[in-house]
Amino acid sequence: MKNAPPLFLLPGVQRIFGGFSLSKCRGDLQWLKGVLAVDLARSTCGCAFRRDPFGMTMTIQNQADNRVNAGEPVNAGETLWDRGRLEAVHTQADKSQRVRQMFDSIAPTYERINTLFSGGRDRAWRKRTVKIAGVQQGDSVLDIACGTGDLLRAFDAGAVRPSRLTGADFSLGMLRHAVNSDAPTASWLQADGLSLPFASESFDITSCAFGVRNFQDLNAGLREMHRVLRPGGRAVILEFTRPANRVVRFVHEFYSARLMPLGARILSRDRTGAYSYLPKSVVSFVDASAMCRRLKAAGFAKATATPLTFGVVTVYRADKVAT
Ligand SMILES: C[S@@+](CC[C@H](N)C(=O)[O-])C[C@H]1O[C@@H](n2cnc3c(N)ncnc32)[C@H](O)[C@@H]1O
Repeated sequence: MKNAPPLFLLPGVQRIFGGFSLSKCRGDLQWLKGVLAVDLARSTCGCAFRRDPFGMTMTIQNQADNRVNAGEPVNAGETLWDRGRLEAVHTQADKSQRVRQMFDSIAPTYERINTLFSGGRDRAWRKRTVKIAGVQQGDSVLDIACGTGDLLRAFDAGAVRPSRLTGADFSLGMLRHAVNSDAPTASWLQADGLSLPFASESFDITSCAFGVRNFQDLNAGLREMHRVLRPGGRAVILEFTRPANRVVRFVHEFYSARLMPLGARILSRDRTGAYSYLPKSVVSFVDASAMCRRLKAAGFAKATATPLTFGVVTVYRADKVAT
């Protein structure tokens, strides 16, 4: 029992090892089939076919094409997080570039891996984040580090649909999946969360799910979230935290530092070190009270933290003073 996975992971574990029936796992089987098909296409003609942002078919996805589209030097299979860098992920001078290349690389399997290894909890966490944001009629939302669009999807499905949804991310690989998926009608743009291309006071809600931990400069990112908010607006942030209970923390960290990286690496065929970066970046990131202090230092009038699933993640809400 000592090394058993936390209870909330069981649905995911069951999906993988337990009820492996066709009906239950059709989605996963189709995904695995897709992974193999793309791999076969790569090995025979060096490319795979995907839909472009405008719904037309184009040939992308060999690493050379990615390099051109992303404007970044991505080397196939390059290790971005070696042992040395993993010891100090938040203080790497080029953290930003490494993070961007890492997400460009894992974008094709990102959502599947998330859902499998969080036992489906990631969707519930985003739903709760939307609830905590307290969307009102006519609100506009800017989702920073939107990735493949999961949080905007949750906003779209919330009790009150925002009038305008905007997603910003600096990884073109992730954005391409957002645009091609069943993500809601939204404006998508490639932008750095530390220097947003928006006038001050443009949005009612700014959000960020599993993004701030990756910022090169956390304080600068929080200041940007505050700057683009209208008076009375609020920021919601969903981020991993370390559970307060020592037993839960031990079990969870064993899972996320040992089991998850191995499984995720095999399924996503990641060579960048993305799934070793994840647990390292969580254990060395600021805790909930430090995050609330930083939100206030960024200009927010008040900040609250709501731990979810034994504190594995926390939702922060920070309000900008209404003038
Ligand atoms: C773990 S993913 C989260 C994606 C999405 N928010 C979700 O809930 O699944 C982190 C995302 O943050 C983006 N990101 C990290 N730093 C960023 C920055 N400075 N500006 C814009 N996007 C950033 C990455 O490209 C990646 O898509």
